[in-house]
Amino acid sequence: MQVTTTPAQHIPVITIDGPSASGKGTVAQLVADKLGFAYLDSGALYRVVAFAAQQNNIAWDDANAVAECAKTLHIKFKNGQVLLNDHDISEEIRTELMGKGASQVAVHAPVRAALIDLQHSFHQAPGLVADGRDMGTVIFPSAPLKIFLTASTETRAERRYQQLLGKNQPANYENILQDLQERDARDKGRASAPLVMAENAILLETDNLGITDAVNTVLNAYKNVTTN
Ligand code: DC
Repeated sequence: MQVTTTPAQHIPVITIDGPSASGKGTVAQLVADKLGFAYLDSGALYRVVAFAAQQNNIAWDDANAVAECAKTLHIKFKNGQVLLNDHDISEEIRTELMGKGASQVAVHAPVRAALIDLQHSFHQAPGLVADGRDMGTVIFPSAPLKIFLTASTETRAERRYQQLLGKNQPANYENILQDLQERDARDKGRASAPLVMAENAILLETDNLGITDAVNTVLNAYKNVTTN
């Protein structure tokens, strides 16, 4: 496994990894807000790469071409928006297609390598909450608190289904379930930085846990880490 060191070891990082639609993004953002920490949505970076590759007619399975494309991108997060070369593409990257594309481009080691420095650049005072698949295992391996947030595939599919209905987008539960199963298999099965729970992570299963309880569990765990 690729291991990277992070600068500024004394600045705290909370990593929240887990599968698609587990609710980790919402929990991570709320924890960051509560602590006044920055928030890194690493999945958005892979979505931007998939989007940019598509715009440039680069096939998602062309590892080298996608990696070269990734190196040229100027990605910024500003006021909850995701900017690519100063254009707001927040909506475009949130589609099911870009989720699938992100999972496909994320398989390639050179693509992952192209995004490492950008991810490390979020590690700034007073602290960072980083959400993704390999935050605790590869990107911030010495984070003092690592959470692995998950839920059953059925619960996650139901949440995604309700989310799409809420946005008046077409939604089919069976298709969503199948897509999630495929993405889980790809994210867990890849050779480079697969989705896996870090050895020293806390497992948080959210099938029967609301967002507020999940956020409070993370905040309490962080309090324990900082006072011990
Ligand atoms: O969290 P998300 O659904 O936006 O992520 C989209 C895809 O990006 C996910 O299926 C796998 C990939 N990803 C990754 O490989 N590593 C990360 N740290 C974050 C996301």
